[in-house]
Amino acid sequence: MTAPRVTRLTEANWREFAVVRLRALTDSLGVDDPQYRHESSFTAAQWRRRLREHAQFTVLIDGRPAGLISAQRENAESVYLYSLWLDPDARGHGLARPLVEAAVDWARTQRVRTVTLRVAADNTVARGVYESMGFRVAAALVGPRHELAMSLSV
Ligand SMILES: CC(C)(COP(=O)(O)OP(=O)(O)OC[C@H]1O[C@@H](n2cnc3c(N)ncnc32)[C@H](O)[C@@H]1OP(=O)(O)O)[C@@H](O)C(=O)NCCC(=O)NCCS
Repeated sequence: MTAPRVTRLTEANWREFAVVRLRALTDSLGVDDPQYRHESSFTAAQWRRRLREHAQFTVLIDGRPAGLISAQRENAESVYLYSLWLDPDARGHGLARPLVEAAVDWARTQRVRTVTLRVAADNTVARGVYESMGFRVAAALVGPRHELAMSLSV
C-alpha cells in the first residue's frame, strides 16, 4: 500500500468524484434519502459544475478516493465545510485531520476570516477531530437534527 495522499479533485476527475460522493451519501444517509436520489441522477455536466463551484478534497489510498470533504464560499467573510466522510475501511487511521487541513488551507487562499461547519451533537469522533484543529462550538442549532455550528478563525 502506498502512503495515503490528500488531493483536490478537478473537473477532469468528475467520474471518481461522483463515485466517492455517492458512496458517502449511501453510507451516511442511505439510498432512499432525497439528497442521494437527487445527486444520483446528476449528469456529467452537473458533477463538473459541482467541482467548479465547490472545492472537493479526497484522500487517495492506492490511487483510489477513500474519503471526501467539500468546501464552499459562504460569503465574503467565511468558507463553509461540509460532508467530511471516510470510507469505513479507512477510518481510525488519522486521515480525517489532513483532509480537513486541506480544506482549511484552501479557505485561507480565499482570504476569509472564518471557516464554519455543522456537526451532529452526538458525533464525538468528528467533533474531536474538529476541536483538535482549533474549531470551537459557536452555537447549538435549532431543529430536529441536534446539530452544532462550529467555527475556526483563519
Ligand atoms: C468522522 C470521521 C471523518 C473521522 O475520521 P477518522 O480518520 O476515522 O478519524 P481519526 O482516525 O483521526 O480519529 C479521530 C479520533 O477519534 C478516535 N476514534 C476514531 N474512531 C473512533 C471510534 N469509533 N470510537 C471512539 N473513538 C474513535 C481516534 O482514536 C482519534 O483519536 P485521537 O485524535 O485521540 O487520536 C469518520 O469517522 C467518518 O467518516 N465518519 C462518518 C461520517 C461523519 O461522521 N462525518 C462527519 C460529519 S460532520
